[in-house]
Amino acid sequence: MQDKIKNIESLEELQSLYTATFGKNGTMTLRLREMSKMSADERVELNKENATLRELFKVRQTELEQAALMQKLKTEFVDVTLDTEPKNRGTLHPLTETLSQIGAILESLGYTMWTGPEIEDDWHNFTALNTPSYHPARDMQDSFFLDNGNVLRTQTSAIQIRAMEGNGVPIKMFGVGRTYRKEMDATHSPMFGQIEGLYVDKIDAHITMSDLVATIRTMLERYFERKLEMRIRPSYFPFTEPSIEIDIKWNGDRWLEIAGAGMVHPNVLRNCGVNPDEYQGFAFGFGWDRIAMLKFGLDDIRQFYDGDVRWLKNSGFEA
Ligand code: PHE
Repeated sequence: MQDKIKNIESLEELQSLYTATFGKNGTMTLRLREMSKMSADERVELNKENATLRELFKVRQTELEQAALMQKLKTEFVDVTLDTEPKNRGTLHPLTETLSQIGAILESLGYTMWTGPEIEDDWHNFTALNTPSYHPARDMQDSFFLDNGNVLRTQTSAIQIRAMEGNGVPIKMFGVGRTYRKEMDATHSPMFGQIEGLYVDKIDAHITMSDLVATIRTMLERYFERKLEMRIRPSYFPFTEPSIEIDIKWNGDRWLEIAGAGMVHPNVLRNCGVNPDEYQGFAFGFGWDRIAMLKFGLDDIRQFYDGDVRWLKNSGFEA
């Protein structure tokens, strides 16, 4: 009996043997009931046996419970030292975020995104844009020239020339990229981002100034997610005629200059091999840092480019 208990392998079997021994009609129970008929020595013997068996059951039960627990721990093992979610996911840079938002809006209006080289030749950055070398408008921008006569692109308008040369017309595109000018203060950085739209089609497609203004309004109102008060001022750019500048009312009192725009100058079309008697269209351009600053409520453009991780983390930009 004692060996039997020691060799039992499951708690269920142990339980049933226990019942068979100590239950109402269990072997030990029945023997204990006969105790009065026994001699004193037999009683001592039986009590001893009774106590030993109970002890053995208890020991075996503990052993089997322990083994079951170990088994469970093995199969249901949880490694608490493993890391959970990555802690530093990072966020998109606010300018990247801005570009993808504006890009999505323009694409939804049918525009295709183009990029171009940041080191431009004179033709694409100036001459084709109706700004030949003697043109006074070259002084409108303080440019970084390279020794070989190339220039760090001063405006993404250069991409529009490349797009018209490469794709021909009709065309509906926007160019995005970094641009460079010698200027630096709270609202100007020597490197900044521009986005420029271009839409040129046959004369009888009737692309007009109203379409231009409506396009800019749609884009800005979707970007800022609200209705905007807009103002249009006459302006001058060598590559558009007529030219306008677009301001929006900000914080209820201030007019802020947001974009330059106009109908593409016939010379620009001609420079790209397009006949201005058959085709016309509009172009617009703006700084994407500028609109990002407005949306995020920032007052210094240079923060975008400092690469200060503490600033990026604390400025509340959400990816
Ligand atoms: N390229 C102009 C600038 O840098 C903006 C502009 C683009 C104006 C297209 C008219 C048409 O300010």
